[in-house]
Amino acid sequence: MNGPRWNQSVEAKAGYKVPFGTVSITDEARRLIQRALDETFVTNGKIVHEFEQAFADLFQMKEAVAVSSGTDADALALAVAYDYGARRGDEVIVPALSFIATGNAVFQAGFKPVFVDVKRETLNIDPERIEAAITDRTRAIMPVHLMGKPADMDAIMAVARKHGLLVVEDTAEAHGAVYHGRLAGTIGDMAAFSLYAAHIITSIEGGMVITNDPQKAEALRSLRNHGMVNKFDFQRIGFSAKMNEIEAAVGLGNIHIFRDIFEKRRRNLLYLIGRFKEFEDYFIYLKEDAGETIGPHAFSIILKPGVKFSKEDFVDHLDKSGIDSRNLFYSMPTQCPSYQFLGHKPGDFPEAEYCSDHGTHIGIHQGIENDQLEYVIDTVRTFLEKYS
Ligand SMILES: Cc1ncc(COP(=O)(O)O)c(C=O)c1O
Repeated sequence: MNGPRWNQSVEAKAGYKVPFGTVSITDEARRLIQRALDETFVTNGKIVHEFEQAFADLFQMKEAVAVSSGTDADALALAVAYDYGARRGDEVIVPALSFIATGNAVFQAGFKPVFVDVKRETLNIDPERIEAAITDRTRAIMPVHLMGKPADMDAIMAVARKHGLLVVEDTAEAHGAVYHGRLAGTIGDMAAFSLYAAHIITSIEGGMVITNDPQKAEALRSLRNHGMVNKFDFQRIGFSAKMNEIEAAVGLGNIHIFRDIFEKRRRNLLYLIGRFKEFEDYFIYLKEDAGETIGPHAFSIILKPGVKFSKEDFVDHLDKSGIDSRNLFYSMPTQCPSYQFLGHKPGDFPEAEYCSDHGTHIGIHQGIENDQLEYVIDTVRTFLEKYS
């Protein structure tokens, strides 16, 4: 693995036996960081371009545009819709359940999010509910491959093409996931990746948009740089979302260990999927369907209806046992206070709300070894003994 060091992420709280996250910084990244510091062009320069090229090659796409975060990647990709006739206040369809950045990015791009409920078993947007959410102001659909589980892209693309809508895949959590033989992120018109420290390809903070359409890539390059097209010729309402050379050095220095990290995380994910069969009466967890490869982001655990314990009891037991966990995101329209002005009420998105109220997720990252996974299994078994 070319001598990567598995550093404990700033995300990981001290003292956890099974920390939630980690970040890998290779010696190559350290060398590139030094190169970045030695050069005079410290942002959006040569290393950024090399990183973009390496990222495009990895996904076999024509274009990759580096930006400063995954949220910016989502927002800028959506803002490309203005080049195709969208107006401020038009609508973008997103799943109700996601990390809040998905919804925030829609607002940041100047659009209104229209939420569609998810499927409990996949955590992803329910394609059968999309058509009913389309209005004459809908301009785009932004499915999320939540927890690395590919969204049902065939159905989503079919409805998008029927209505002439742009598709932006939020691939923040699904680096390397495969849907029917195609990498997640290569199916829609554009895909947005987060390169935050928790993700497989990371620049610590950062984002990337990939597309096969050079015109869209050109729009993205302008949008990330204040809407500029030529020197001080501002043609769009832009963002300030460039990636700097030091972040790109981390990304470029780590991209060659993508497969190693991916495989290690996959082993951990598949191990837990296999071992959790023992707890099938109590929990819903993601399963891999035929024709897909889940991108190993984290391991989601959702309490089944009727179990005799609460999520809080379960998470508290994990925490006291030294297993770090995170809430399984939120039903953005009904559970995030800042979204309440949209007028949704509890119960409007029952599946997303169920997942949020009853779900958590734990780490499966490259720093976790088999004995730690066995410790997770023992800890869950001990907890359940009280309720069997
Ligand atoms: C589904 C999803 N979309 C978008 C983002 C935003 O990424 P960032 O934190 O890099 O802005 C995240 C964060 O990881 C995410 O999980």
